[in-house]
Amino acid sequence: MKVLLTGGAGYIGSHTAVELMNAGCDIVIADDLSNSCREVVKRIEELGKKTVRFYEIDVCGEDALEQVFSENDIDAVIHFAGKKAVGESVAKPLMYYKNNLDATMNLLEVMQRHDVDKLIFSSSATVYGVPKVVPIDEKQPTWCTNPYGWTKYMSEQIMRDVCAANPKLSIVLLRYFNPIGAHESGLIGEKPNGIPNNLMPYITQVAVGKLKELGVFGNDYDTPDGTCVRDYIHVTDLAQAHILAVKYLMEGNESNIFNLGNGVGFTVKEVIETARKVTGKPIKAVEEGRRAGDPAVLIASSEKAKNILGWKPEHADLEEIIASAWKWHSSHPQGYCSVQKEDK
Ligand code: WQD
Repeated sequence: MKVLLTGGAGYIGSHTAVELMNAGCDIVIADDLSNSCREVVKRIEELGKKTVRFYEIDVCGEDALEQVFSENDIDAVIHFAGKKAVGESVAKPLMYYKNNLDATMNLLEVMQRHDVDKLIFSSSATVYGVPKVVPIDEKQPTWCTNPYGWTKYMSEQIMRDVCAANPKLSIVLLRYFNPIGAHESGLIGEKPNGIPNNLMPYITQVAVGKLKELGVFGNDYDTPDGTCVRDYIHVTDLAQAHILAVKYLMEGNESNIFNLGNGVGFTVKEVIETARKVTGKPIKAVEEGRRAGDPAVLIASSEKAKNILGWKPEHADLEEIIASAWKWHSSHPQGYCSVQKEDK
């Protein structure tokens, strides 16, 4: 079976590519490398033990995407490609709407032209905004608090509408909670350069000495220690869910939505303490004000993914998950590529 991964050279895409290859799939990757580099593709081939068809393209470009589908007999698509920094989306909303929605609409058009009718979409818990009930199941109302989240929400809606108009098309929306960690080999992981947008890469950059300290965004939430609670899911467990979603669609099942999290929450302070224990580093943290749009608690109910997809996350221990992130980052303080490229 041949699977196209848009954004497949990114953090979650690369881990999913390896798991799919190890499950016997052939992989095509379309990625503009704006948040990655070619070395990642080489590592994916090393870990997956076979070659990848790689296209360095912008998925928003119709002609470029047309070439990918013309040259490859694709059975299913996993759509990872998109800008994903919450803060950046607030500063540059038009860039986010244009990039993320054009990519989604372009992909759907080219898929239909080539009768490719199975799609898995990398969505996010951010579509739940500030949840009314925790743990959050897929029936919870969706409403966003930032342009990045709205691009996920709108992409989901576009896909639902295209499915309604084209019954042959079946789509799985995977709503990730907080992906962290790295492949057990320590050869691939989250891009550790530039100013991180998320907690975990920020912590490991402080631990390797690249950044001086970590700001803790708010300590007055209604949580055990006043800092936000999140549901951290190991990236390899997340990758496994994508394999099960491909299988689910290839078996002819209907379109569906699944939350992907461990169902366990940890506060920011607990994550920092655990990282100090795992790394043996002081990891200086300073209290700062709240970050706009942050819900106090986001914890998943993933019962649906477990019951319908048969998903069984294997890494629920926070120490183990952080240890995998540290193994990757401490052995790659400059990331994959030369400092100049990675630090741009
Ligand atoms: C986690 C907690 C921060 C940085 C977002 C997206 C989601 C997904 C993951 C793409 C929050 C606190 C963070 C820092 C801090 N992205 N924090 N200091 O915001 O839960 O989710 O990233 O798939 O779609 O919505 O993740 O890691 O940014 O923040 O105190 O320097 O850590 O306030 O409570 P978030 P995060």
